[in-house]
Amino acid sequence: MDRLQQLTNLTFLRDAHERHSVEVVFLCSVAAAALCIHLWQRRSRQQASTRPPTPTLEKAQPRVWGRWEPSDFVTPRPSPYPDWSIKHTKPLPYRPFRYGPKYNITMGLRILQHEEWIELDNNYPRFHEDKKKRIDERGPKCCRTAPEAYPAAVELLEELTEYLPARYPSLYRRTDRGLDNLWSGESFDITSRPLAEDPMQMCARLVQDDLAIMIEKEDGQYYLLAGAILLAGFWRLSDKYGMPLSEIHTSGSVPQFKEKLEKGMMSFFRRLKPEELVARHNYFVQVDEELPWSWSIGDEDAADVSWNTAEKNRAIEHHHFRSERQTLRRLPRSGAVVFTIRTYFHPVTEVAEEDYVPGRLASAVRSWGDDVDRYKGREKYGEVLLEYLDRKHAEQVARGLDLEAEEETRAYPY
Ligand code: HEM
Repeated sequence: MDRLQQLTNLTFLRDAHERHSVEVVFLCSVAAAALCIHLWQRRSRQQASTRPPTPTLEKAQPRVWGRWEPSDFVTPRPSPYPDWSIKHTKPLPYRPFRYGPKYNITMGLRILQHEEWIELDNNYPRFHEDKKKRIDERGPKCCRTAPEAYPAAVELLEELTEYLPARYPSLYRRTDRGLDNLWSGESFDITSRPLAEDPMQMCARLVQDDLAIMIEKEDGQYYLLAGAILLAGFWRLSDKYGMPLSEIHTSGSVPQFKEKLEKGMMSFFRRLKPEELVARHNYFVQVDEELPWSWSIGDEDAADVSWNTAEKNRAIEHHHFRSERQTLRRLPRSGAVVFTIRTYFHPVTEVAEEDYVPGRLASAVRSWGDDVDRYKGREKYGEVLLEYLDRKHAEQVARGLDLEAEEETRAYPY
């Protein structure tokens, strides 16, 4: 069983559910399990005579919740992103939706290499400008660090200071005191105390992602105690700040959170090691063009925001496809868990030009259950969206797109 499966208790049947019958997968897994047991027994027999006795200390020690023994793990220095340029590197085309008929709610984690942690591309100037404006206009509403999360926020700033100049050397240069942004001319000093601004806000200026820090307390729960949430579109840091992970999700009525996600997530967070980095993807449709805040669901300062207030059946030109690439890792020194949220944002009319995308997206939208419909606001845009996607799909088929060849041209999450 690989590390991700151990972490999440996910079954590898998940993906297979979509295309193959459960019976075939079951038989394969029985055969694979039998083979694994056989190989393991053979290997154990071979090693038994030479292996030293297992030292007692190597046995997994249960952790005391809320206490972290600093790890000596050092994040590997990343290699430079191949041919990266602030002008020419396009956003990666994440299209993380699957064909129906069934929409499966899962954690959907995949393992990343450490060098894949942060993605920057030629949307950087737009994101950087949007963030700067938001910090000027509503900084403390969007960027905050609780005192008990301060060391973790500083650790995150230090991690980014090492990572970014190595990964994007044409954008960032490491200096004695921090790093310089060669494109914007900003210089970041991470050594002076007090820091020039909130450490999460400093981190936010460096990347396109929104950032959150989760701190484990004595009750074993993970609390949102630092964040720079500037471009989240549908949620506000001030609503969720200080909440434990479960309440963050239940207060937002995340579909099937209790039944399908809560237990696995809790166990994942408690077991996550500094050596590990994972990602998950999601997608939404919004019916306006604002990246930082989708005003269709209400004014950002309104007491309550929801899809109920959105205008129904807006023209397709207003529909935008929004997809988040989220990553999770544990900081070695503080033990805090960092959650990064990078949003990819495009007009639906643009992504629907890509081969297979309109057909697959239409099938995915039709596969949502009532709860997912409500959560994602389908009632407000479903008719217009599906009519458009069906038409674009029919055009692709009419010009000879080979539907059978889709599997060869893409792999999740593209
Ligand atoms: C294993 C980790 C996690 C999983 C599997 C997970 C899962 C989900 C899912 C399924 C949703 C519904 C939208 C979507 O499909 O993405 C969601 C929404 C959300 N998640 Fe998570 N999540 C995780 C970690 C976190 C963390 C660490 C935070 C901390 C900020 C967070 C904050 C939120 C928020 C604010 C929403 C929107 C809730 C709303 O609509 O009010 N999630 N999450």
